[in-house]
Amino acid sequence: MDFLTDFSSTWSNPQMRHAVLVHMPIALSMLAAPVALLAALAGGRFATLRWITVGLLLLLAGSGFLAKQSGELAEETVEGALSEEGEHVLEEHEELAEWVWIFGLATAFVAGLGFFARAPRRRNPAPPARAANAGADARNESMAGREARNESAAAGQPVAPAKGSRPTPRLQVGSAWAAALLALFTAGWVANTAHHGGKLVYEFGVITGSRVPAPASAPASEDAADPRVAHFRERVYPVLTEICAECHNPDGMRKAGRFDVATMATILKGGRSGAVLVPGKPEESRLYEAVTWENEELQMPPPEKLSDEAIEAIRAWIASGAVWAPPE
Ligand code: HEC
Repeated sequence: MDFLTDFSSTWSNPQMRHAVLVHMPIALSMLAAPVALLAALAGGRFATLRWITVGLLLLLAGSGFLAKQSGELAEETVEGALSEEGEHVLEEHEELAEWVWIFGLATAFVAGLGFFARAPRRRNPAPPARAANAGADARNESMAGREARNESAAAGQPVAPAKGSRPTPRLQVGSAWAAALLALFTAGWVANTAHHGGKLVYEFGVITGSRVPAPASAPASEDAADPRVAHFRERVYPVLTEICAECHNPDGMRKAGRFDVATMATILKGGRSGAVLVPGKPEESRLYEAVTWENEELQMPPPEKLSDEAIEAIRAWIASGAVWAPPE
């Protein structure tokens, strides 16, 4: 059972979850590239190899997408805690990662084109011509009709390739080689992405925590009898979750000043311009300043100011230590 407990605690930590998930696209890209190359070396003739290539690439795209999503959640937990250099590596890591699933999907598509290849007919161009002109045949069996049919047959058929065994359609060969090159490129891209991710872990202490300071935490009390808890639950928490969280949520991070009101940890971490809450000191807290609308540059929530009672409730909450005790 220890394993299960360990696993679930790993899984509930966004950084660890991301670290687990990223291994899937890494492994799949390293598998897909040689298989795609094998398929190309075989001249694109083996449908089984093509199936495996497409399958691996689709899995790569799917897992690349999951890894990207989990990375965005993990990012929020380290934001503000990295040095400038670390922040820079994180940004590059993220930009690279956004393309992995797209490349995976595009490569799968290119590899899949091989399924649509039709073998060029070599010996007997007549049957398809007849099929194409079946309607004309029925309507008009005169000599003129037959001549027209033969002409269109000559024009419409692919040029017969040289003699020999049944030729491999060009599309099959082309798609196999294009897919192989793209798969190699994607594997390189994934490796580079992973390298940036590895740097974050080993050089900048993400996950291992060696250089990431843990956010300070406000005094929290679970005691519902504490009037500060009741005040927070009834007057502050609803404002944060119902009004502010509409924009300041994990998904809206990019836009809304990179500020997330979901937990005390993220509130203390603050936004783009740093800390926004100093427990005990509303006048030093940008969160309070924002809701008072006193600073013309920062008036929250847009477009309409909170009621005076709500603003006062936030002030009192911060002044009394910013207790964080969300209702169960
Ligand atoms: C309609 C969307 C929206 C709502 C609702 C909203 N905000 Fe914002 N908020 C933003 C945007 C966008 C920014 C970033 C732009 C800026 O700094 O002016 C921001 C920035 C902030 C910042 C500054 C973060 C930083 O470090 O730059 C604070 C503090 C803040 N909001 C608090 C609040 C609070 C408290 C509420 C609820 C009472 C709230 N916001 C509701 C959109 C919103």
